[in-house]
Amino acid sequence: MSSATRTVIRGGLVVTAADEIHADVLIEQGRVVALAAHGSTVAESWTADRTVDATDRYVIPGGVDAHTHMELPFGGTFASDTFETGTRAAAWGGTTTIVDFAVQTIGTSPRAGLDAWYAKADGVCAIDYAFHMILSDVDERSLKEMDHLVQEGVTSFKLFMAYPGVFYSDDGKILRAMQRASADGGLIMMHAENGIAIDVLVEQALAEGRTDPRYHGEVRRVLLEAEATHRAIQLARVAGSPLYVVHVSAEEALAEIAAARDKGLPVFGETCPQYLFLSTDNLAEPDFEGAKYVCSTPLRPREHQAALWRGLRTDDLQVVSTDHCPFCFSGQKELGRGDFSRIPNGLPGVENRMDLLHQAVLDGHLTRRRWIDIACAAPARMFGLYPKKGTIAPGSDADIVVYDPHTEQTLSVRTHHMNVDYNAYEGRRITGRVETVLSRGEVVLDRRTWTGRAGHGRYTPRGICQYLG
Ligand code: URP
Ligand code: ZN
Ligand code: ZN
Repeated sequence: MSSATRTVIRGGLVVTAADEIHADVLIEQGRVVALAAHGSTVAESWTADRTVDATDRYVIPGGVDAHTHMELPFGGTFASDTFETGTRAAAWGGTTTIVDFAVQTIGTSPRAGLDAWYAKADGVCAIDYAFHMILSDVDERSLKEMDHLVQEGVTSFKLFMAYPGVFYSDDGKILRAMQRASADGGLIMMHAENGIAIDVLVEQALAEGRTDPRYHGEVRRVLLEAEATHRAIQLARVAGSPLYVVHVSAEEALAEIAAARDKGLPVFGETCPQYLFLSTDNLAEPDFEGAKYVCSTPLRPREHQAALWRGLRTDDLQVVSTDHCPFCFSGQKELGRGDFSRIPNGLPGVENRMDLLHQAVLDGHLTRRRWIDIACAAPARMFGLYPKKGTIAPGSDADIVVYDPHTEQTLSVRTHHMNVDYNAYEGRRITGRVETVLSRGEVVLDRRTWTGRAGHGRYTPRGICQYLG
């Protein structure tokens, strides 16, 4: 079905971050043209080539997952979803835009890294995509290139206070990159963990024979996330730059962000479904099964979850992204048998985020509109994609999900579409399911039959963060 088709979605409850309205939606040339109340003269006058029945369904903006790592090289292997498989799985789960991370490798330029990531994604994505840039080598050349990348639509840069010798930047490099970002309108995204201290604890744990996956969580201490978060905030203040802290997992780190926001500082926070739904209990699963849950920042004791939910309600955290970075248990996670530090870090989840957060609505953690805010509108605003993405309004891309809030499903590797041999949420019951998905007006999932295609997804350059005045 071509995006030139005129489509009307009839009978649903349109839920955006701002409103809930019983309205029909008219789509032309891949864009939303108008919304009008069911049965109104305007809505009744619309003719269409295609009508999508959304009776008893929600009509929501396609999800924006602002943190994915398709094909990421890590620990001697590669994340198992390609841009083709990962974007298809995203669409199955109601996400219609991903922002993935291009990587600068040490000794090469950001430009070379970005070009390599353009090539990986070109012509194979099922949904629209954009890039952040991971800076692993902050030198004069990288700093200069930041200016060009911002102009090109790559307006955010991830730095790591963790992983010495791989992605790590010291405080001086971080300060320089922040100064440059503040001059350019770029946004620094921080992996806030004190990697130098963590490496000491890793060495000590292994020397004492503590090699099981659960020690991954123990050495990556809450205090070392909180300390790094605090330090990143102070460095951003010195540089006069905004800061977005990725994958916040610990209550104490969130408290640092909340304190900064209370001072009126432009500090933002993201958490991920794994920190809201999983815990150190998973990391402690026997027979090396805990390896499935090794990611950084690590899963925390369950007590941290209430603080994260509260942070999402109070807007101390603005975004839930997945940090989708899948590694198969067989052959990939297994690289770390006998040494947890060799387990590739990352969890799958790009297909499960919208459903898990809908369940959170039913469980009373979030309102429906907040669900759409943290999963669609806020990530689009944060990364300069709004209102093209993240909402349903005249002029927006017709990236729309017809969501059935009543049907029950069980999350499982047997039914998911991610290219990974386990599901981190295996067996979890969810009420609600994605039914139909449109990407720029094209139906890519039609009542749970795949109608999309590799190559439909377009690279989408971004503007600057829209929370910065
Ligand atoms: O464990 C994780 N999060 N893997 C992906 C890389 C990162 O730090 O985001
Ligand atoms: Zn990270
Ligand atoms: Zn990540």
